[in-house]
Amino acid sequence: MTQAEARGAAATGARPALPPDVPPDGPPGAPSGARPGAPMLEVAGVSRSFRGLRAVSRASLTVARGEIVALIGPNGAGKTTLFNLVAGALAPDEGSIRFQGAEIAGLRADRVCAVGIGRTFQIVKPFADMTVLENAMVGGFRGTTDPRLARARAERALQALDMWPERHRPASALTLPGGKRLEVARALATEPSLLLLDEVMAGLRPTETDRMVAAFRRLNAEHGVTILLIEHVMRAVMALAERVYVLHHGEIIAAGTPQQVTSDPRVLHSYLGSGAAPAGR
Ligand SMILES: Nc1ncnc2c1ncn2[C@@H]1O[C@H](COP(=O)(O)OP(=O)(O)OP(=O)(O)O)[C@@H](O)[C@H]1O
Ligand SMILES: [Mg+2]
Repeated sequence: MTQAEARGAAATGARPALPPDVPPDGPPGAPSGARPGAPMLEVAGVSRSFRGLRAVSRASLTVARGEIVALIGPNGAGKTTLFNLVAGALAPDEGSIRFQGAEIAGLRADRVCAVGIGRTFQIVKPFADMTVLENAMVGGFRGTTDPRLARARAERALQALDMWPERHRPASALTLPGGKRLEVARALATEPSLLLLDEVMAGLRPTETDRMVAAFRRLNAEHGVTILLIEHVMRAVMALAERVYVLHHGEIIAAGTPQQVTSDPRVLHSYLGSGAAPAGR
């Protein structure tokens, strides 16, 4: 799609296909280079310590193509560290991380981005002097130096996040929800097939959370983007996630549907401490 088409689509309210040239491996359920039935993302026995502190300890999880999966856990549980390991910001001390059948553990962040994993950062730091569109274009330059392509990707991402009307505003003028949206748009402009979202709904009002949830549902259902999200806002987790993993002191202590994990005594204990009584027991 050209810029003009993107603008035209936005003006008429039509939603352009996103991503246009990805997923490279086709829509959800399509065969990929991976062995048949293999998950899109397969984290197996991954650990990472910081000066003796085991932030992630033999963690394993899977995300199937087309799924929305949540990773929850108390503050300091190791959630962002696990994202950093998947996204190439950190290398694991041990374990394997496979994406679409290929080992990616220890790859540089730009290489991980190039294979189709986009991520947001928990601390949102847009370039304040640049416009919303220019900030999103930072993601759009993934694998290209062509500003027209970067711009077209950024425009599609802003449309998908309902940020089209704000594209020429300076990023410094955005409110907290706007800043969070822009961070997602920047990640989306890299045209990922797997999107890692780190607490993008923290601090939002319920109406803003619901708007964000609706945008992620659309991205997933209409654009085939697989999503792994770290989230404390249970309203969002319950509305979005098909499956949930719970991390505590670096270990995955529970996994299941949102209903299953939120009634799991170990999960309640990890969040509330030893005095917590399991719900309904
Ligand atoms: N680069 C680092 N160097 C040293 N320690 C680190 C580093 N990154 C994380 N940690 C430590 O690892 C542990 C896990 O941190 P992490 O940020 O992964 O937790 P989290 O689950 O994302 O928490 P939150 O919900 O507060 O975002 C914490 O004790 C943290 O202080
Ligand atoms: Mg974190």
